[in-house]
Amino acid sequence: MLPLTLTDDLLQQILGVTGAAALAATPLVGAGDRNAVDGAAVAGMRQAFSRVPIDGVIVVGEGEKDEAPLLHTGERVGTGAGPRVDVAVDPVDGTRLAAENRPGAIAVMSVAPRGSLFDPGPVFYLDKFVTSGAAAGLRLDAPTVDTLHELAARLDRSVTSLRVAIQDRPRNQAYVDAVRSVGASVVSFRDGDVIPALHAAHPRGSIDLLLGIGGAPEGVLTAVAVRALGGIMQARRSPQTPAERGRTHAAGLSTVEVLELADLAAADGYFFLTAVTDVEGLRELGVDDLPGVRRLATGSETVSLLVSPGGGIRRQADVHKRAADADPAGPGRPATRE
Ligand code: FBP
Repeated sequence: MLPLTLTDDLLQQILGVTGAAALAATPLVGAGDRNAVDGAAVAGMRQAFSRVPIDGVIVVGEGEKDEAPLLHTGERVGTGAGPRVDVAVDPVDGTRLAAENRPGAIAVMSVAPRGSLFDPGPVFYLDKFVTSGAAAGLRLDAPTVDTLHELAARLDRSVTSLRVAIQDRPRNQAYVDAVRSVGASVVSFRDGDVIPALHAAHPRGSIDLLLGIGGAPEGVLTAVAVRALGGIMQARRSPQTPAERGRTHAAGLSTVEVLELADLAAADGYFFLTAVTDVEGLRELGVDDLPGVRRLATGSETVSLLVSPGGGIRRQADVHKRAADADPAGPGRPATRE
């Protein structure tokens, strides 16, 4: 598979796609309707894609799990000119956070060489295991208590000092019990497992390990960032309802097999996100917090992150002029940037 190297100009245009999703979702922030947030973001993202010079295929779309509108699997995106890429999108990760105007809602996307991203198929949920490169060799399918002791030894820390992010869902209770049984700290979060996974994968992140069952689309998006940051990730298909289990087995897919990082993202790619609401606590990743979309007198300001192969993290603020004042490049390409 040929390595993917995107020019700075193209990276800017792709960042404009998550920017457009965030801008489109913003009028609905705090309005209490998560499907409306998602629908607006999908529409904004779709429109922005039409100007971007890539030959993209959506491998991971968003929608079916939450019965929200689709940027559906197999949809072609971009102008058709430019690099042949797989695209994974989550127009808003944390739709409920956005609907309730709480911190942590992001528009997020990964772009990687064609054929390199995992297709979750009929599976909506993955059991995820994310940690930093210092923990190479640790496994999702080992007993959690053993993993925690081994991780502490690798990091030369006490097991009680470990911070383990787990999404607050009844399905993840066994992980919570295991982590607390060794005296380590559970960092519980309600929604949005992409940002905690970035922390877990980053050598200086505020999270040592992310465990638990969360969305499959978010898992694939995350894998691209984990790869870029030099982290460790494994996952296992984890259908949550009899219908989902039935579809998984009918498709001949294993719920036992451990998917390695190279199964989830087989080549290096780029990871993009734009804050919809404030994203806090990023200092350990070497970047300032990201304010959510801010309205200005003549438009709006978005703040985005780009993670590139090799682990470079760029934080960027963009000013988007209101339609009446916008430059001819349109919202896919911000008017100015810092
Ligand atoms: P959405 O905003 O797309 O619904 O995702 C939020 C999220 O918390 C993800 O970060 C997580 O992977 C997934 O939902 C977990 O699914 P569920 O909310 O169904 O437990």
